[in-house]
Amino acid sequence: MTSSPRAPLAQSLHFWARNASNESALLQASLRLGLFDALPVEGSDTPKPLDVLTQALAVSTRGLRALLEMLTSMGFVHMDDARRFALSAQTAGILRSEPFQQRLSAELPWWEPHGLLDTAVKQGGPVAHAGRDWDVLGHLQALFLDAPATTDSPEAEDFFDRFARSAPRHQVLVTAGRMGVLEQLASAPRTVEALGTLTQTSPQGLRVLLDVLARMELVREDGGAWSLTPPARQLLDGKALAYLVRSLTVSARYWEALGRLEETVRHERFILDLKNPEVSQSFYADNSNQLTAVFASHFQLSRRAATTLAQTRPLDGAQVLDIGTGSGVWGSAFARATPTTHVTYFDQAVVLEQVQRNVQALKVSDRARLWPGNLFTHDFGEADFDVIILPQVLNVLLPDMLPGLFARVAKALRPGGVLLIAEYVLNERRDGPLDHLYFGLRRFMTNEGDLLSASEYAQLLSAVGLTQSVCIPLPTQELIFAARPGVTLPSQLASTESEARPASTEARGA
Ligand SMILES: C[S@@+](CC[C@H](N)C(=O)[O-])C[C@H]1O[C@@H](n2cnc3c(N)ncnc32)[C@H](O)[C@@H]1O
Repeated sequence: MTSSPRAPLAQSLHFWARNASNESALLQASLRLGLFDALPVEGSDTPKPLDVLTQALAVSTRGLRALLEMLTSMGFVHMDDARRFALSAQTAGILRSEPFQQRLSAELPWWEPHGLLDTAVKQGGPVAHAGRDWDVLGHLQALFLDAPATTDSPEAEDFFDRFARSAPRHQVLVTAGRMGVLEQLASAPRTVEALGTLTQTSPQGLRVLLDVLARMELVREDGGAWSLTPPARQLLDGKALAYLVRSLTVSARYWEALGRLEETVRHERFILDLKNPEVSQSFYADNSNQLTAVFASHFQLSRRAATTLAQTRPLDGAQVLDIGTGSGVWGSAFARATPTTHVTYFDQAVVLEQVQRNVQALKVSDRARLWPGNLFTHDFGEADFDVIILPQVLNVLLPDMLPGLFARVAKALRPGGVLLIAEYVLNERRDGPLDHLYFGLRRFMTNEGDLLSASEYAQLLSAVGLTQSVCIPLPTQELIFAARPGVTLPSQLASTESEARPASTEARGA
């Protein structure tokens, strides 16, 4: 989660691939919006609630809340128990310095040119953008390789690093993945010239790219030949490299929108608007390809969820509905739980083509029904399902759509039925976990859903008669089980041991 050089490489790589550009975008948008100046200083002034800050800055409430919750999680802002915000005294001290502010402001125009890194590396020289040439390679060189010693404090340097270097680290990875540099280095050590020929890039561009990747401890040079470092080789072994490259392609789609985050927070102008059906179809078709690539690891989680539910609600003969199925990974885990469980997979038609292939591969297609439709409006029927799963899909819906969806889902559940939500559930203060908050920021930017805490979910579910709910953490996300009164719900996650048993035994044992 942190870009600190002391963080283990696996943790750093995860951060650079997923959230590093979000971190810089958050800090840059906060500066552009004047948020740091608008916040009272902790210990000196009275903290201010969200609505007062929203009004003062004339911005979107939800956008500002997303920024403040992340800044709180990172420790730059303090939130008291009444949800009033103040800038931490240390951050205020850092930002009080005029030369430091100038150093930050000088980085702001570089977001879009950094997005042209592929071209810069190919050509080995400046790239044209907005009517002028930008020496992107020279800028990266200055940021990472020739950075002059400054008199700023370590805390200020850390702030600057997150503000200015986190996003380019992400972009360097994206370019190295997209141009095949990582793949070539994983297969054999290469000289810059050989790598240039293989990837059709310029030696000048490659040298800068490789030098930055070396600073990130992902590659190294030995006797003129470049290769992955041993820890990077270990992390990117087998299918992991292909997965990383694929996930970088998906996260690269957010680059422009992140660079224009200020505009989205100010005017709710969505640069990557997934409420636009064409944009959504292309985005989620790509996303479900990526999800299919990680099917095996997600399947472990979804199987564990199925086993957990089967402890209290046997799945033999159960009718299961998987809404927003994506790759079909959740529904098929339930299909595999017993030989008699029937699963209906619901998603946009374009996505269901993937599901068809996946359920065939898992040999559960004889108990599968593919149901295309629009989840924002679809009527899922009345008392037709024993289990309804909403896996990582609520975050697609705008907050005001949730009550309507929950009402349609509750109607479709049989009286003793169970609803299972798999989501990133926030803590009760809504200031963590930070990974979840970054995910929530992307959902805001794409005109999609909000992340909620367990009690916020419980309130919405109670309103549609699902008055019982429990929240159980999985390794990377949370499960919420909900039902009408009198239905027994699981209270803890099934052990991994029970997953190891054959599928039919799991169901019988439940
Ligand atoms: C984040 S993905 C989750 C995929 C899957 N459940 C998983 O956990 O891997 C959200 C899914 O919701 C689907 N979706 C988004 N908008 C939709 C809509 N209006 N109607 C139907 N499905 C939609 C997308 O196609 C996508 O497959």
